[in-house]
Amino acid sequence: MIGKEQMDALFIEAQKTAVSAYAPYSNFRVGAALLCEDGTVVKGVNMENRSYGLTICAERNAVAAAITMGKRRFLALAVSTPDSVEPVGPCGACRQVISEFTKPDMPIRFAGSGQNQVDTTIGELLPLDSLHDLKNN
Ligand code: THU
Repeated sequence: MIGKEQMDALFIEAQKTAVSAYAPYSNFRVGAALLCEDGTVVKGVNMENRSYGLTICAERNAVAAAITMGKRRFLALAVSTPDSVEPVGPCGACRQVISEFTKPDMPIRFAGSGQNQVDTTIGELLPLDSLHDLKNN
């Protein structure tokens, strides 16, 4: 498990990353920072498209980047949404993708620009994830 200071530092990485978001249609920037088991922090931002449905969320971009780097074990995820005051959590599609590579107790923090933050786990965000049991290795 990671401690509070590590999670605070991971969230700061997510905040810093959010400035790179490509979100000219929604103007809603999202930054994600994924702490890998080896200590690497892999980041992702949302990437929109003029064909709106092609948008990829920050969380899925972070997971895809990590997998591309050969990293598959993750200790924590932080998500920053600076264009909302209140915390905005990962969308349903991202919850499913995060869950593919994590145990239910993996911690997730998300927060907007205000003081409120949510500390939760992927298991809380995606309960009854019975498909998880299909994985063989
Ligand atoms: N978005 C994310 O990047 N992550 C989420 O979990 C929620 C939504 C992005 C998609 C789109 O670019 C913008 O936020 C508004 O929905």
